[in-house]
Amino acid sequence: MPPALRLEHIAKSFRGPDGLPVRVLRDLTLELPPGALAVLTGPSGSGKSTLLNIAGLMDRPDAGRVFLDGQDATDLPDAARSRLRGQKIGFVFQRFHLLPRRTVLQNVLFRFRYASPPPGLKPKSAALAALDRVGMRPLAARPAGVLSAGEMQRVAIARAIVLPPALLLADEPTGNLDPATAVTIMDLFRSLNADGLSMLVVTHSAAWLQLPGVLSFPLGHLDLG
Ligand SMILES: Nc1ncnc2c1ncn2[C@@H]1O[C@H](COP(=O)(O)OP(=O)(O)OP(=O)(O)O)[C@@H](O)[C@H]1O
Ligand SMILES: [Mg+2]
Repeated sequence: MPPALRLEHIAKSFRGPDGLPVRVLRDLTLELPPGALAVLTGPSGSGKSTLLNIAGLMDRPDAGRVFLDGQDATDLPDAARSRLRGQKIGFVFQRFHLLPRRTVLQNVLFRFRYASPPPGLKPKSAALAALDRVGMRPLAARPAGVLSAGEMQRVAIARAIVLPPALLLADEPTGNLDPATAVTIMDLFRSLNADGLSMLVVTHSAAWLQLPGVLSFPLGHLDLG
């Protein structure tokens, strides 16, 4: 089986306030074996979210290649990249990206705008089941904009897993949670991983690194530029 994700010699710069490019990723190579649970760490500003956006086909690198499940997605046109992302990737954004006026349930159902459900899967029951797994089903009818940060985070996780993705990319998925809820979410990720889902999790929390079998990618060491 090909790696779930392979990033090859990735470089990415952004334009700084003075108009000059600021290099965030210089020559980053990383491979996620199929079925892996991997943790990406590094100081604030080191490029973790940038890397996740590139891996999730949300952003393009300046140089280097991105392979998903062995398929080179680097030069695909935008529409094909969106399709591939919709089919294969569940993404938990650092800032959740929920629609504040829509209900919790509608936010989770939004996932089906980007990928059609597999045969036999009923979107609404799947969405309610995903909300159940993160303990958010009782708030399904509430507008997302009134939720606490931890509740928003759990809705974002439900949206990412409502269609079982091949690869789950999660940016600080337990960053806003109390310790007990964080453990619940870590257990959920572990059980999804045990079902065969590959995942790359950005976190500052030591608890993730202590999980059995976890792979660790410390960003400062990967990016040798
Ligand atoms: N679209 C952008 N335009 C300009 N600069 C950007 C852009 N996106 C990221 N950066 C810069 O790139 C650097 C890396 O940002 P990134 O968000 O990837 O860091 P991070 O490791 O996720 O940090 P944190 O732990 O705080 O979330 C930062 O200096 C940031 O200001
Ligand atoms: Mg970040």
